[in-house]
Formats: sequence, C-alpha cells, structure tokens
Amino acid sequence: MKQVKILELEGVSYEYRGGQKALIDIGLCVNEGESVTILGTNGSGKSTLLYILQGLTKPSSGSVRAFGGEVFDDSARARMGLLFQNSQAQLFSLTVWEELLFGPLQRGVPVSEAEKRAEDILGLLGISHLRERSPWQLSGGEMKKVALGTCLSTNPDVFLLDEPTSGLDPRSQVELIELVMALKKAGKTVITATHDLHIIQDISERAVIIGEDHRVLAEDTPSGILAKHDILLKANLIHEHAHYHDGYRHEHSHYGAHEHGDPDAGHMNGHDMAHSHGPHSHGRTEAIAMTRMEEKLKILLEHWHEHNEEHTQTYLEWSGKAEKEGRGELARALKDIAGESRKLNSLLRKAKKLL
Ligand SMILES: Nc1ncnc2c1ncn2[C@@H]1O[C@H](COP(=O)(O)OP(=O)(O)O)[C@@H](O)[C@H]1O
Ligand SMILES: [Mg+2]
Repeated sequence: MKQVKILELEGVSYEYRGGQKALIDIGLCVNEGESVTILGTNGSGKSTLLYILQGLTKPSSGSVRAFGGEVFDDSARARMGLLFQNSQAQLFSLTVWEELLFGPLQRGVPVSEAEKRAEDILGLLGISHLRERSPWQLSGGEMKKVALGTCLSTNPDVFLLDEPTSGLDPRSQVELIELVMALKKAGKTVITATHDLHIIQDISERAVIIGEDHRVLAEDTPSGILAKHDILLKANLIHEHAHYHDGYRHEHSHYGAHEHGDPDAGHMNGHDMAHSHGPHSHGRTEAIAMTRMEEKLKILLEHWHEHNEEHTQTYLEWSGKAEKEGRGELARALKDIAGESRKLNSLLRKAKKLL
C-alpha cells in the first residue's frame, strides 16, 4: 500500500516573543493513518509543535506542509482536531451540549446530523450526565473529556492530542487509550504529545523524543525508545533509579541506574549481562571470598526478590481495582497470584541466606 505523507516538517524552529526558544530545527514526517508520540519533558516544546502542526502558529523558520499543501489553508485546518493541554482554552459554550454542537454546525453539518453525533459522543465518553452543565464548572478530568468530545464532533482525519491522559483518573486513562486505539483502527492519524512513557506502546507505533534543548533527540518504535535508557535520562523522561520492562516501570530507590542490553530478554539474561558492577548489599571482603558464580547468583537472587516484591504489590493493587469494578472472580484470581508470589518471596529469601 502506498504511504501518503500528510504532515511534513523541515528545519522548523520557533521562538516566542522575547527570544524564548521552543523548537530548534525539527524535522518530522507523518504518514496517513500513522500514530506517533511526541515525547519530551516540560518545556521541551511539545505544545508549540502541535500548534504549528495545527496551523495556529507559524514557525520562525522552516517549512510545514499538511495534506500536500499549506498547513494554514482552512481546508487543511478543518481536517485536524487539536486537544489542548489546557481544556479551558478549548471550551467556551454555555453548556456541554452546545459545546459539542458548535464545531459541526460551524462546518455546515445539518442540525439533525450534528445532534446525532453529539449524542453518540456523550455516550462514547460516558458524559451524558454532563449534557446541561456549564463546561466551566466541571472538574479537570470532566473538562478534558468534553474537550476531547469537541475534537471528535468535527470528525477530523488527524488528531493532535496534547497530554490527553493528564488529569484523568486511572479508569479514564485506560478508556482514553482504548479510544485512541479505536481511532487508529478507523484509519485516523493520531499524534500525541506526552511525557507519560506508560502509554506510548499502546497508543503509537513510533515515538519521537524532543530533548530539553528543543531538538529531536531520538526517533524509534516505542519499545526501541523505552530501551534507550541513556536518552530517556538525558531527556528527563525518567530519573536515574527507574527502568522499564516493556512499559512496566520499576523503581530502585536503593540502587543506581540499571542498564538493560535487551528489554525483551528475560530477567536472567538482562541482569546477567548487565551487572558487571559491584554487588548489591554484601561487603567487599565477603564478595572477594565468593566464587564468581556465587557472586553472580547472589546478585540475581537479589534482583528476583526485589522484582517479585514489587510484582506482589502490583497484583494486590490490581486485585483491589478489579474488586472495585465488581469483578470478584478476577480479583480473587489476582489475590491468589499475590499469595503464590509471597510464597516465592520467602523461598527467595531462604535461597539468599544460603549464599
Ligand atoms: N507564550 C509563551 N511565551 C514565551 N515562552 C513560551 C510561551 N509558551 C511556551 N513558552 C516557552 O517555550 C518552551 C516550550 O514550551 P511548550 O511548547 O509549552 O513545551 P511543552 O509543551 O513541551 O511543555 C518553554 O521553554 C516555554 O517556557
Ligand atoms: Mg505542553
């Protein structure tokens, strides 16, 4: 299938008035139907980039094309929907219902069709109860859903989502991720700006990191990006005591950075290869006295134990969530896993004592 380029940026830089640099020499190309995450820490330039893609802001230098033409053409802008980072910037009608009708009516969609869309969106986002409320008197998360609803209501080809999960409770975050997946399935192009590494594998097939210096620092598949520990550190997307296993975050408060050769490799492999540095908690003399094999095994056991403790905690958390959702059987199954995992913890402790 021929890939159609729908957004093309070349050498794009942007400076705010007063000389504040927001983007430097950005090159980016997005194909139709692609989903891309723009990753970057606070102030790296993500929101500015989305404004430029939407044609709200003109770059100080460089070129932007959308759908093969000028991004500032009304027809190009009409095909894009931007979810603002700050929902208040997006909402201005008296009621949520009017808010959802505004975009389509402005674009000449017949009233009956616009109303049908608005109704569908209320249902889809689970916000039917907010229909007559003023968008200004909603919670941050509710506002965000309404703002997303206004994007959906104009049925754009390209969604530009600025930190869509921030301010959402865990369930709404999962729903948002599912919505992005559904948009993707429907052939939409989705560009999401975020610093939330947990979501990038679910919502995108490519990730671009903008560094603190406002330049593109790396570009790869989401799992490729998650494996680039040094770059994530440099971009201030993780801190030194954290690492990822295919999207699952671990923190090691008592120990320094972990290098993983291959994030998809099993723990044994990854850790075996990576830990050529000193032992975890035992003293030097003891370490020297141990055979090499024992030393390695001790480090591995330490890790297995540590990970297993964390996993046990996570099983319990998810069991609680399942319980709350009325999924009793699932909650019990997860609790059983936690129980087994506790047994494993005591076996690991026992093995550690033997070394
Ligand atoms: N209206 C503005 N005036 C001046 N500087 C701004 C303005 N908006 C953002 N900036 C600056 O531009 C840089 C990029 O900001 P932004 O695109 O909002 O980053 P991000 O969305 O990644 O947090 C930051 O250094 C920020 O302080
Ligand atoms: Mg921003």
